[in-house]
Amino acid sequence: MESGAPIEDLDALEREGLAAVGSAGTIEALEQVRVEFLGRKEGRVSGLLRGMGALAPEERPKVGAAANRVKERLLSAVEAREAVLGQTDETVAEPEDLTLPQRNRWVGGRHPVTQVVDDLIAIFRTLGFTLARGPEAETEWYNFEALNTPLDHPAADEQDTLYLKGGNLLRSHTSPVQVRTLEREELPIRILAPGMVYRRDSYDATHTPAFMQLEGLAVDEGISFVDLKATLAEFARRFWGSGTRVRFRPSFFPFTEPSAEVDVKRVYRTEDGEEAETDWIEIMGAGMVDPAVLDACGIDSERYTGFAFGMGPGRIALLRYGIPDLRLFFENDVRFLEQFVRS
Ligand code: PHE
Repeated sequence: MESGAPIEDLDALEREGLAAVGSAGTIEALEQVRVEFLGRKEGRVSGLLRGMGALAPEERPKVGAAANRVKERLLSAVEAREAVLGQTDETVAEPEDLTLPQRNRWVGGRHPVTQVVDDLIAIFRTLGFTLARGPEAETEWYNFEALNTPLDHPAADEQDTLYLKGGNLLRSHTSPVQVRTLEREELPIRILAPGMVYRRDSYDATHTPAFMQLEGLAVDEGISFVDLKATLAEFARRFWGSGTRVRFRPSFFPFTEPSAEVDVKRVYRTEDGEEAETDWIEIMGAGMVDPAVLDACGIDSERYTGFAFGMGPGRIALLRYGIPDLRLFFENDVRFLEQFVRS
């Protein structure tokens, strides 16, 4: 120890001590620092005081008082650091659980009607159907006339729609895709055409002036009504379950002959485990492609036959989820839509 400059030595020791306290990273390291500087016997401050014997007598009280202040300041630094490390220690011992799932933000999902469309398509794909598309802005030829529907026929009135400038219209059904595909593709064909259609309809719980349709068409040599029934019955069983029954009621469409409305009756289990069945529910229009449609597409209707069907995925979604009002599908209320998000 440099005698003659004990105060400077004390200052240096204090700086060193404070730095050591500040860099102690754990309670244990801090305890070592405390013992090193403030230990009663071996501590460096005590050691320095022991050297006071070499000082001039008038220096001794000054140096003694300075040494005590250094001790106090180091001690309170140790205590302050202890408090900080105590806190840090807890957080170090229990870090945030990074394995907790994050809170996901709403990133959107498929609309319930789109989900039904996708499910329907997935089933028909396994039955050999591929996708086809057509424009929403159509000509009167494709929407009506080529489908054996003269413009002054009452069936054209039933599908009154919105006309665009230049005489085109918003298609009132997806059936024009039948004609467009028959004109373009080689036979045989088996296609599905999903898409929006438009009608001059009211906007209420059971009608909307725009809605989804899913059209199906199969044309080949030797296709009969048996193929239509078998295809739709198989589809219904795959979509609603093996106990589902299908009923064909005679109906009329200008572009199919014979025509039918197709109903399904579903079997389900009640809460008490008993078997119950729904009423007959109409799900689509269908029939054998009218030879006049094949003729309009330049197809030999003596050689080829086919069947077609058209269904409303929106109505099927209503049934599936027990939704009381079609308008819910159009309001884009996220509180409604997020109930249908599939992970
Ligand atoms: N296009 C008809 C409709 O919109 C449905 C249909 C399609 C009927 C195909 C028979 C065959 O009402």
